[in-house]
Amino acid sequence: MPVDLIVTCAVGFEDLVRGDLLQEHGIRSRSLAPGEILLQDVAESGLGFLSSTTALDRVAVPWDPAAAPQSVVDVVRRLAESVGVEAPVRFRVQAAADVREQVIARFTDVAGWVNAPSDWQVNLDVEQGVAQLGPLAWAARFGTLRRLPAATPVAVVAGLLRLAKCAPHDLLLDPCAGVATVSIVDSIDRPDGRGIAVDLDVEAVDLARQNLIDRGLQGRVEVSAGDATHLAVEDHSVDRVVTDLPFGKRIGSNSNNIELYPRVMREIERVLTPGGRCVLLTDDKRVFKDALARTRGLKIVREQVVRYHGVNPSAYVVTRSRAPGRRAR
Ligand SMILES: C[S@@+](CC[C@H](N)C(=O)[O-])C[C@H]1O[C@@H](n2cnc3c(N)ncnc32)[C@H](O)[C@@H]1O
Repeated sequence: MPVDLIVTCAVGFEDLVRGDLLQEHGIRSRSLAPGEILLQDVAESGLGFLSSTTALDRVAVPWDPAAAPQSVVDVVRRLAESVGVEAPVRFRVQAAADVREQVIARFTDVAGWVNAPSDWQVNLDVEQGVAQLGPLAWAARFGTLRRLPAATPVAVVAGLLRLAKCAPHDLLLDPCAGVATVSIVDSIDRPDGRGIAVDLDVEAVDLARQNLIDRGLQGRVEVSAGDATHLAVEDHSVDRVVTDLPFGKRIGSNSNNIELYPRVMREIERVLTPGGRCVLLTDDKRVFKDALARTRGLKIVREQVVRYHGVNPSAYVVTRSRAPGRRAR
């Protein structure tokens, strides 16, 4: 039986996600709210898109809290199977205390679900009338990533990669790679792709290395400790650069960025192929635009504001403004 699903993605990437769902899976949709998309009449046999569309963060089904649990239990089971969540489902209930106890008892008895408010996979929201599979459930797609507090959410990385338009064999560089989220998400869509991941912080590099080894990607992504302003990478050798730059809040500072960004931009200009393309995420927008304006040979072709976790950074799509090595007249 077809089902209606509500999916979420990072605010700002809705149009990209909707376009991909229509083109690649024939799924029609409409925007409900920022970051929230309604998919109507999705065949239950065709839920594979949930695990392959990495820009999706959560999926929910409409749920009538007054109805018998079994109907929603069956749909949630199929959704959980399609994203690789193992039974028994761990759940929590969002409701006033007295209602919450009743709902917990019903779903524990009828469905054999386990009440796990701090480690849930399914959130039953009584007020909103939805049963939602949350981001914890999505870890099943990747295995659990070793992360640091500044790590970029997977759904955001997926949107950045979508803007980067990587070709199957492109070499992708992340010069501020952290725990290598960009390289790992990219590897799902591009089984023949290659990557370079660099970060100044040795703890991040250790975690990145482990994350890559855990997924058998160590042969495809070269990871090293290094400085984004002095990369051990040949001139004009990198097809795509995708990175989440230090915003100057949790990592670095605004005054650091005034020094750092122009040097990183010059280095990116040096390593980028003539037809190369970059997607650079930052919340330090003025400093970024100033740095880019002062970088010969690069230009911003698109700015996409994104919203997640209380920040509103922009993803800047940057290309060459002229062939490398030629002086401006
Ligand atoms: C926003 S975090 C990137 C998070 C990453 N996308 C992830 O998912 O883990 C910015 C990263 O830039 C790194 N960084 C700061 N200055 C750097 C530099 N000069 N060269 C290389 N990496 C640098 C920090 O160590 C941090 O890991």
